[in-house]
Amino acid sequence: MARLVRHEQTAPYRIDPADFPKDGKSLFICACGLTSTPPRCDASHKACKPEVPGMIYIYDPATKGVTDSRPDAR
Ligand code: FES
Repeated sequence: MARLVRHEQTAPYRIDPADFPKDGKSLFICACGLTSTPPRCDASHKACKPEVPGMIYIYDPATKGVTDSRPDAR
């Protein structure tokens, strides 16, 4: 079984360190769907930089490379 999930974010969500008074460090939650360490961002979102509006991109989760792209009919 396979599933396509639409992710339109190309950068992580930043959690304010004030919400985590224990260590005071920012926490970045993946919003692009490419991370290998969910829910944390592992910088895999850098693969999204070449994306252009109006297109859909399909990624290989192992290589983080684009395997297909096509116009977004939405
Ligand atoms: S936002 Fe997904 S890896 Fe950074």
